[in-house]
Amino acid sequence: MDAREMVSLSEAHKKFFQVGACLSNESIKRHDAIIKKHFNCAVAENAMKWGPIEPKEGIFTFAEADEIVKYSHDNQMALRAHAPIWHMMVPDDVFMDGGKPASREHLIERIDSHTKAFCEHFKGQFSSWDVVNEAINDFPGEDLRQSKWLELIGPDYIDIAYHIARQYAPDVQLFYNDYNEFVPYKRERMLKLVKGMLDRGVPLDGMGLQAHVNIVECNLDEYERTVEAFAALGLRIHITEMDVNPYSLRDRVFPPSSPITEEMHQKQEQLYRGIFDICRRYSDVVDAVLTWGVADDMTWLDREFCAGREHQPLLFDQNNNIKKWTEQIIEDAMRYNG
Ligand code: G3I
Repeated sequence: MDAREMVSLSEAHKKFFQVGACLSNESIKRHDAIIKKHFNCAVAENAMKWGPIEPKEGIFTFAEADEIVKYSHDNQMALRAHAPIWHMMVPDDVFMDGGKPASREHLIERIDSHTKAFCEHFKGQFSSWDVVNEAINDFPGEDLRQSKWLELIGPDYIDIAYHIARQYAPDVQLFYNDYNEFVPYKRERMLKLVKGMLDRGVPLDGMGLQAHVNIVECNLDEYERTVEAFAALGLRIHITEMDVNPYSLRDRVFPPSSPITEEMHQKQEQLYRGIFDICRRYSDVVDAVLTWGVADDMTWLDREFCAGREHQPLLFDQNNNIKKWTEQIIEDAMRYNG
Protein backbone atom coordinates (compact mmCIF):
# COMPACT_ATOMS: atom_id res chain seq x y z
CA MET A 1 0.00 0.00 0.00
CA ASP A 2 1.18 3.51 -0.83
CA ALA A 3 2.68 5.13 2.28
CA ARG A 4 0.49 8.19 1.79
CA GLU A 5 -2.63 6.09 2.21
CA MET A 6 -1.35 4.82 5.51
CA VAL A 7 -0.20 8.00 7.19
CA SER A 8 -2.73 10.57 8.27
CA LEU A 9 -2.22 14.29 8.83
CA SER A 10 -2.28 13.89 12.60
CA GLU A 11 0.01 10.85 12.61
CA ALA A 12 2.51 12.63 10.38
CA HIS A 13 2.52 15.56 12.83
CA LYS A 14 2.47 13.52 16.02
CA LYS A 15 5.81 14.76 17.24
CA PHE A 16 5.04 18.39 16.29
CA PHE A 17 1.45 19.38 17.13
CA GLN A 18 -2.16 18.27 16.94
CA VAL A 19 -4.07 18.69 13.67
CA GLY A 20 -7.80 19.28 13.49
CA ALA A 21 -10.72 21.27 12.16
CA CYS A 22 -13.86 23.04 13.25
CA LEU A 23 -16.89 20.79 13.45
CA SER A 24 -20.62 21.30 13.12
CA ASN A 25 -23.45 18.84 13.66
CA GLU A 26 -23.68 18.49 9.88
CA SER A 27 -19.96 18.04 9.25
CA ILE A 28 -19.54 15.24 11.77
CA LYS A 29 -22.03 13.26 9.69
CA ARG A 30 -20.77 14.27 6.27
CA HIS A 31 -17.05 14.18 7.03
CA ASP A 32 -16.94 11.39 9.58
CA ALA A 33 -14.38 9.27 7.70
CA ILE A 34 -11.96 12.14 7.11
CA ILE A 35 -12.20 13.39 10.69
CA LYS A 36 -11.65 9.94 12.17
CA LYS A 37 -8.67 9.24 9.96
CA HIS A 38 -6.89 12.57 9.93
CA PHE A 39 -7.68 14.68 12.98
CA ASN A 40 -6.84 14.50 16.67
CA CYS A 41 -8.26 17.82 17.79
CA ALA A 42 -11.39 19.84 17.09
CA VAL A 43 -13.37 22.98 17.85
CA ALA A 44 -17.08 23.67 17.50
CA GLU A 45 -17.63 26.06 14.57
CA ASN A 46 -20.63 27.76 16.19
CA ALA A 47 -22.17 25.51 18.84
CA MET A 48 -20.21 26.85 21.83
CA LYS A 49 -20.71 30.55 21.08
CA TRP A 50 -22.92 32.58 23.43
CA GLY A 51 -26.07 32.64 21.26
CA PRO A 52 -26.29 28.91 20.57
CA ILE A 53 -25.54 28.15 24.26
CA GLU A 54 -27.75 30.79 25.94
CA PRO A 55 -30.24 32.16 23.40
CA LYS A 56 -32.31 33.77 26.17
CA GLU A 57 -31.07 34.84 29.57
CA GLY A 58 -30.93 31.80 31.85
CA ILE A 59 -32.18 29.41 29.13
CA PHE A 60 -29.36 27.08 28.11
CA THR A 61 -29.41 24.91 24.98
CA PHE A 62 -26.47 22.55 25.17
CA ALA A 63 -27.71 19.79 22.85
CA GLU A 64 -25.81 20.77 19.67
CA ALA A 65 -22.58 21.35 21.53
CA ASP A 66 -23.05 18.13 23.50
CA GLU A 67 -23.16 16.16 20.27
CA ILE A 68 -19.85 17.65 19.12
CA VAL A 69 -18.28 17.17 22.55
CA LYS A 70 -19.32 13.50 22.62
CA TYR A 71 -18.10 12.95 19.07
CA SER A 72 -14.71 14.50 19.87
CA HIS A 73 -14.31 12.37 22.97
CA ASP A 74 -15.45 9.17 21.29
CA ASN A 75 -12.75 9.79 18.70
CA GLN A 76 -10.01 10.78 21.17
CA MET A 77 -9.77 14.35 19.88
CA ALA A 78 -8.71 17.22 22.13
CA LEU A 79 -11.43 19.86 22.14
CA ARG A 80 -11.04 23.64 21.95
CA ALA A 81 -13.99 25.81 22.99
CA HIS A 82 -14.79 28.98 21.02
CA ALA A 83 -15.83 32.04 21.50
CA PRO A 84 -18.31 33.54 24.00
CA ILE A 85 -17.10 37.13 24.20
CA TRP A 86 -17.36 38.32 20.63
CA HIS A 87 -19.05 41.14 18.72
CA MET A 88 -21.14 38.54 16.90
CA MET A 89 -23.47 35.70 17.84
CA VAL A 90 -24.43 37.26 21.18
CA PRO A 91 -28.18 37.95 21.47
CA ASP A 92 -29.03 41.69 21.59
CA ASP A 93 -30.95 41.15 24.83
CA VAL A 94 -27.69 40.40 26.65
CA PHE A 95 -26.83 44.08 26.34
CA MET A 96 -30.26 45.36 27.43
CA ASP A 97 -31.97 45.69 30.78
CA GLY A 98 -35.64 46.65 30.97
CA GLY A 99 -35.59 48.47 27.63
CA LYS A 100 -32.37 50.35 28.47
CA PRO A 101 -28.72 49.50 27.86
CA ALA A 102 -27.43 47.20 30.59
CA SER A 103 -25.14 48.72 33.21
CA ARG A 104 -21.47 47.72 33.45
CA GLU A 105 -22.19 45.74 36.64
CA HIS A 106 -25.16 43.96 35.12
CA LEU A 107 -23.24 42.94 31.99
CA ILE A 108 -20.31 41.66 34.07
CA GLU A 109 -22.79 39.61 36.11
CA ARG A 110 -24.12 38.15 32.85
CA ILE A 111 -20.61 37.17 31.75
CA ASP A 112 -20.16 35.57 35.14
CA SER A 113 -23.38 33.54 35.07
CA HIS A 114 -22.92 32.48 31.43
CA THR A 115 -19.32 31.39 32.10
CA LYS A 116 -20.30 29.55 35.27
CA ALA A 117 -23.09 27.60 33.56
CA PHE A 118 -20.87 26.82 30.56
CA CYS A 119 -18.02 25.55 32.72
CA GLU A 120 -20.25 23.50 34.99
CA HIS A 121 -21.87 21.82 32.02
CA PHE A 122 -18.67 21.11 30.07
CA LYS A 123 -16.39 20.47 33.07
CA GLY A 124 -13.42 18.33 32.05
CA GLN A 125 -14.61 18.17 28.44
CA PHE A 126 -12.44 20.84 26.79
CA SER A 127 -8.79 21.73 27.19
CA SER A 128 -8.46 25.18 25.63
CA TRP A 129 -10.82 28.10 25.12
CA ASP A 130 -10.97 31.21 22.93
CA VAL A 131 -12.51 33.35 25.65
CA VAL A 132 -12.40 36.68 23.83
CA ASN A 133 -12.50 36.70 20.04
CA GLU A 134 -11.55 39.45 17.57
CA ALA A 135 -11.46 42.39 19.99
CA ILE A 136 -9.03 44.40 17.86
CA ASN A 137 -10.11 47.12 15.44
CA ASP A 138 -9.08 46.51 11.80
CA PHE A 139 -9.26 50.15 10.80
CA PRO A 140 -7.35 53.35 11.63
CA GLY A 141 -8.24 54.83 15.00
CA GLU A 142 -8.68 53.06 18.29
CA ASP A 143 -6.89 49.78 19.01
CA LEU A 144 -10.04 48.06 20.27
CA ARG A 145 -13.00 47.25 18.05
CA GLN A 146 -16.20 49.12 18.80
CA SER A 147 -18.57 46.62 20.38
CA LYS A 148 -21.31 46.50 22.98
CA TRP A 149 -18.83 44.93 25.40
CA LEU A 150 -16.49 47.89 25.03
CA GLU A 151 -19.27 50.46 25.08
CA LEU A 152 -21.05 49.15 28.17
CA ILE A 153 -18.20 47.75 30.29
CA GLY A 154 -15.15 49.65 29.07
CA PRO A 155 -11.78 48.38 27.78
CA ASP A 156 -11.25 46.18 30.85
CA TYR A 157 -14.05 43.86 29.65
CA ILE A 158 -11.31 41.68 28.17
CA ASP A 159 -9.33 41.29 31.42
CA ILE A 160 -12.56 40.70 33.33
CA ALA A 161 -13.66 37.92 30.97
CA TYR A 162 -10.36 36.05 31.49
CA HIS A 163 -10.43 36.38 35.27
CA ILE A 164 -13.96 34.97 35.29
CA ALA A 165 -12.99 32.16 32.90
CA ARG A 166 -10.03 31.19 35.06
CA GLN A 167 -12.22 31.14 38.16
CA TYR A 168 -14.64 28.62 36.64
CA ALA A 169 -12.21 26.71 34.41
CA PRO A 170 -8.95 26.57 36.35
CA ASP A 171 -7.52 23.68 34.32
CA VAL A 172 -8.32 25.02 30.85
CA GLN A 173 -5.77 26.91 28.74
CA LEU A 174 -7.21 30.34 27.98
CA PHE A 175 -6.57 31.82 24.52
CA TYR A 176 -7.10 35.19 22.84
CA ASN A 177 -8.08 34.61 19.18
CA ASP A 178 -7.91 37.01 16.22
CA TYR A 179 -7.44 37.27 12.43
CA ASN A 180 -5.24 39.24 10.01
CA GLU A 181 -2.39 38.42 12.37
CA PHE A 182 0.02 38.61 9.41
CA VAL A 183 -0.86 42.27 8.65
CA PRO A 184 1.85 44.31 10.43
CA TYR A 185 -0.32 47.05 12.00
CA LYS A 186 -2.92 44.50 13.14
CA ARG A 187 -0.21 42.27 14.58
CA GLU A 188 1.20 45.24 16.51
CA ARG A 189 -2.21 45.94 18.03
CA MET A 190 -2.64 42.28 18.94
CA LEU A 191 0.80 42.18 20.52
CA LYS A 192 0.10 45.35 22.49
CA LEU A 193 -3.15 43.91 23.78
CA VAL A 194 -1.77 40.59 24.97
CA LYS A 195 1.47 42.09 26.35
CA GLY A 196 -0.67 44.47 28.41
CA MET A 197 -2.76 41.56 29.65
CA LEU A 198 0.32 39.60 30.68
CA ASP A 199 1.81 42.66 32.42
CA ARG A 200 -1.42 43.10 34.37
CA GLY A 201 -1.40 39.47 35.46
CA VAL A 202 -4.44 38.50 33.38
CA PRO A 203 -4.66 34.69 33.11
CA LEU A 204 -3.83 34.27 29.43
CA ASP A 205 -2.10 31.06 28.31
CA GLY A 206 -2.14 31.21 24.56
CA MET A 207 -2.62 33.05 21.32
CA GLY A 208 -5.03 31.82 18.68
CA LEU A 209 -3.82 32.84 15.24
CA GLN A 210 -6.78 32.32 12.95
CA ALA A 211 -4.82 32.00 9.68
CA HIS A 212 -7.63 33.01 7.36
CA VAL A 213 -4.95 33.70 4.81
CA ASN A 214 -5.20 34.53 1.13
CA ILE A 215 -2.75 34.35 -1.73
CA VAL A 216 -2.75 38.11 -2.37
CA GLU A 217 -2.30 39.78 1.02
CA CYS A 218 -0.44 37.11 2.97
CA ASN A 219 3.18 36.08 2.61
CA LEU A 220 5.25 33.55 4.51
CA ASP A 221 7.83 36.03 5.86
CA GLU A 222 5.11 38.03 7.60
CA TYR A 223 3.53 34.83 8.86
CA GLU A 224 6.78 33.67 10.38
CA ARG A 225 7.32 37.11 11.96
CA THR A 226 3.91 36.75 13.58
CA VAL A 227 4.58 33.32 15.06
CA GLU A 228 7.98 34.46 16.27
CA ALA A 229 6.59 37.59 17.93
CA PHE A 230 3.90 35.76 19.90
CA ALA A 231 6.26 32.90 20.76
CA ALA A 232 8.64 35.48 22.28
CA LEU A 233 5.92 36.45 24.77
CA GLY A 234 5.94 32.94 26.23
CA LEU A 235 2.43 32.16 24.99
CA ARG A 236 1.37 28.79 23.60
CA ILE A 237 0.21 29.10 20.00
CA HIS A 238 -2.71 27.47 18.22
CA ILE A 239 -3.40 28.05 14.54
CA THR A 240 -7.14 28.10 15.03
CA GLU A 241 -9.07 28.67 11.79
CA MET A 242 -6.79 28.08 8.84
CA ASP A 243 -8.02 28.29 5.29
CA VAL A 244 -6.28 29.57 2.18
CA ASN A 245 -8.45 31.84 0.08
CA PRO A 246 -7.45 32.10 -3.59
CA TYR A 247 -9.00 35.59 -3.69
CA SER A 248 -7.98 38.83 -2.06
CA LEU A 249 -9.94 40.10 0.93
CA ARG A 250 -10.83 43.10 -1.23
CA ASP A 251 -12.52 40.75 -3.72
CA ARG A 252 -15.34 40.01 -1.35
CA VAL A 253 -17.93 41.17 -3.86
CA PHE A 254 -16.15 39.85 -6.92
CA PRO A 255 -18.49 38.21 -9.46
CA PRO A 256 -18.95 34.55 -8.53
CA SER A 257 -18.02 33.51 -12.08
CA SER A 258 -14.26 34.17 -11.88
CA PRO A 259 -12.63 30.73 -11.87
CA ILE A 260 -9.65 29.67 -9.78
CA THR A 261 -6.69 29.31 -12.13
CA GLU A 262 -3.86 26.77 -11.88
CA GLU A 263 -1.54 29.58 -10.81
CA MET A 264 -3.88 30.49 -7.95
CA HIS A 265 -3.99 26.84 -6.86
CA GLN A 266 -0.18 26.74 -6.83
CA LYS A 267 -0.08 29.82 -4.60
CA GLN A 268 -2.60 28.21 -2.27
CA GLU A 269 -0.37 25.16 -2.05
CA GLN A 270 2.72 27.29 -1.31
CA LEU A 271 0.94 29.05 1.55
CA TYR A 272 -0.46 25.84 3.01
CA ARG A 273 2.85 24.01 2.90
CA GLY A 274 4.75 27.07 4.03
CA ILE A 275 2.58 27.72 7.09
CA PHE A 276 2.68 24.06 8.13
CA ASP A 277 6.45 24.24 7.72
CA ILE A 278 6.68 27.35 9.94
CA CYS A 279 4.54 25.58 12.55
CA ARG A 280 6.83 22.54 12.48
CA ARG A 281 9.86 24.78 12.96
CA TYR A 282 8.15 26.47 15.91
CA SER A 283 6.66 23.27 17.28
CA ASP A 284 8.16 23.98 20.69
CA VAL A 285 5.41 26.61 21.04
CA VAL A 286 2.81 25.60 18.44
CA ASP A 287 0.54 22.95 19.96
CA ALA A 288 -2.26 22.68 17.38
CA VAL A 289 -3.17 23.55 13.79
CA LEU A 290 -6.86 23.55 12.90
CA THR A 291 -8.59 24.41 9.63
CA TRP A 292 -11.93 26.23 9.52
CA GLY A 293 -13.89 23.39 8.04
CA VAL A 294 -13.07 19.85 7.04
CA ALA A 295 -13.69 19.86 3.29
CA ASP A 296 -14.53 22.37 0.55
CA ASP A 297 -18.21 21.34 0.38
CA MET A 298 -18.82 23.11 3.71
CA THR A 299 -16.53 26.14 3.86
CA TRP A 300 -17.83 29.37 5.42
CA LEU A 301 -16.12 31.29 2.57
CA ASP A 302 -18.64 29.97 0.00
CA ARG A 303 -21.53 30.73 2.38
CA GLU A 304 -20.58 34.03 3.96
CA PHE A 305 -17.50 35.59 2.43
CA CYS A 306 -18.72 35.62 -1.15
CA ALA A 307 -21.84 33.49 -1.42
CA GLY A 308 -22.06 31.55 -4.65
CA ARG A 309 -18.33 31.62 -5.44
CA GLU A 310 -16.15 28.57 -4.88
CA HIS A 311 -13.02 29.18 -2.82
CA GLN A 312 -11.65 25.64 -2.37
CA PRO A 313 -9.65 26.74 0.68
CA LEU A 314 -9.35 23.51 2.69
CA LEU A 315 -7.35 20.28 2.83
CA PHE A 316 -10.08 18.05 1.35
CA ASP A 317 -12.06 18.80 -1.81
CA GLN A 318 -15.76 19.15 -2.68
CA ASN A 319 -16.04 15.36 -3.01
CA ASN A 320 -14.24 14.84 0.27
CA ASN A 321 -11.10 13.50 -1.39
CA ILE A 322 -7.69 14.34 -0.03
CA LYS A 323 -5.95 17.09 -2.05
CA LYS A 324 -2.51 16.83 -3.60
CA TRP A 325 -1.27 19.65 -1.38
CA THR A 326 -2.47 17.77 1.69
CA GLU A 327 -0.50 14.70 0.60
CA GLN A 328 2.47 17.03 0.16
CA ILE A 329 2.01 18.41 3.68
CA ILE A 330 2.02 14.84 5.01
CA GLU A 331 5.16 14.05 3.03
CA ASP A 332 6.83 17.29 4.18
CA ALA A 333 6.13 16.29 7.79
CA MET A 334 7.49 12.77 7.29
CA ARG A 335 10.65 14.16 5.70
CA TYR A 336 11.16 16.94 8.23
CA ASN A 337 14.10 16.38 10.51
CA GLY A 338 14.87 19.90 11.73
O1 G3I B 1 -28.46 28.46 12.94
C1 G3I B 1 -29.07 29.30 11.97
C2 G3I B 1 -30.14 28.56 11.27
O2 G3I B 1 -31.14 28.23 12.19
C3 G3I B 1 -30.70 29.43 10.13
O3 G3I B 1 -31.60 28.70 9.39
C4 G3I B 1 -29.55 29.88 9.21
C5 G3I B 1 -30.03 30.81 8.12
O4 G3I B 1 -28.97 31.58 7.60
O5 G3I B 1 -28.62 30.56 9.98
C6 G3I B 1 -28.04 29.75 10.97
O6 G3I B 1 -27.08 30.44 11.68
C7 G3I B 1 -25.89 30.73 10.98
C8 G3I B 1 -24.75 29.99 11.65
O7 G3I B 1 -23.54 30.38 11.05
C9 G3I B 1 -24.87 28.47 11.56
O8 G3I B 1 -24.81 28.06 10.24
C10 G3I B 1 -25.68 32.23 11.01
O9 G3I B 1 -26.69 32.86 10.26
C11 G3I B 1 -24.34 32.56 10.48
O10 G3I B 1 -24.08 33.95 10.68
C12 G3I B 1 -23.27 31.75 11.19
O11 G3I B 1 -22.05 32.07 10.61
C13 G3I B 1 -20.90 31.69 11.33
C14 G3I B 1 -20.10 32.94 11.70
O12 G3I B 1 -18.88 32.55 12.32
C15 G3I B 1 -20.87 33.82 12.67
O13 G3I B 1 -21.03 33.17 13.89
C16 G3I B 1 -20.08 30.77 10.46
O14 G3I B 1 -20.78 29.54 10.27
C17 G3I B 1 -18.73 30.48 11.12
O15 G3I B 1 -17.91 29.77 10.23
C18 G3I B 1 -18.06 31.80 11.47
O16 G3I B 1 -16.85 31.51 12.13
C19 G3I B 1 -16.01 32.63 12.44
C20 G3I B 1 -15.29 32.30 13.74
O17 G3I B 1 -16.22 31.99 14.75
C21 G3I B 1 -14.41 33.49 14.17
N1 G3I B 1 -13.50 33.85 13.12
C22 G3I B 1 -14.08 34.10 11.79
C23 G3I B 1 -14.93 32.89 11.37
C24 G3I B 1 -15.50 33.11 9.98
O18 G3I B 1 -16.39 34.20 9.97
